[in-house]
Amino acid sequence: MDKTLVEKMIELAMEQLKFSYAPYSHFLVGAVLLGKNGKFYTGCNIENAAYTPSNCAERTAFFKAVSEGERAFQAICIVGGKEGILTEYAAPCGVCRQVMMEFCDPDTFQIILATAKEQYEIFTLKELLPMGFGPNNLS
Ligand code: THU
Repeated sequence: MDKTLVEKMIELAMEQLKFSYAPYSHFLVGAVLLGKNGKFYTGCNIENAAYTPSNCAERTAFFKAVSEGERAFQAICIVGGKEGILTEYAAPCGVCRQVMMEFCDPDTFQIILATAKEQYEIFTLKELLPMGFGPNNLS
């Protein structure tokens, strides 16, 4: 991926940390999803007193995008940490990887994990979800 684009996505993901609603875990997560239409869809984690209705930042971004008509995606950038301090990569949870599998090509979809603008690693969905089960398995 183009370095300028990656850095732009890291900045956008970091900006989303201020919207994170995480009064229970205090683990703030920000994400930005890039559609094949070239648009960015942002997301943050949104927790709930009943715990199970909580939503991850990645799924917030995906559901915003799909609800606005985009279903094809190039990449997602995710940042997160306790109290919003970015010390380690915030890798997507299993449920979010499965949501990615629904809409993304595992061989090409890029997952950018970052702790700073100059500190990141990029994985494909296939690397993070080997042998994933997706729509093609039902066709
Ligand atoms: N979280 C995310 O937003 N994305 C992930 O991939 C991992 C976990 C959120 C869910 C919850 O609000 C908090 O981080 C702690 O699990």
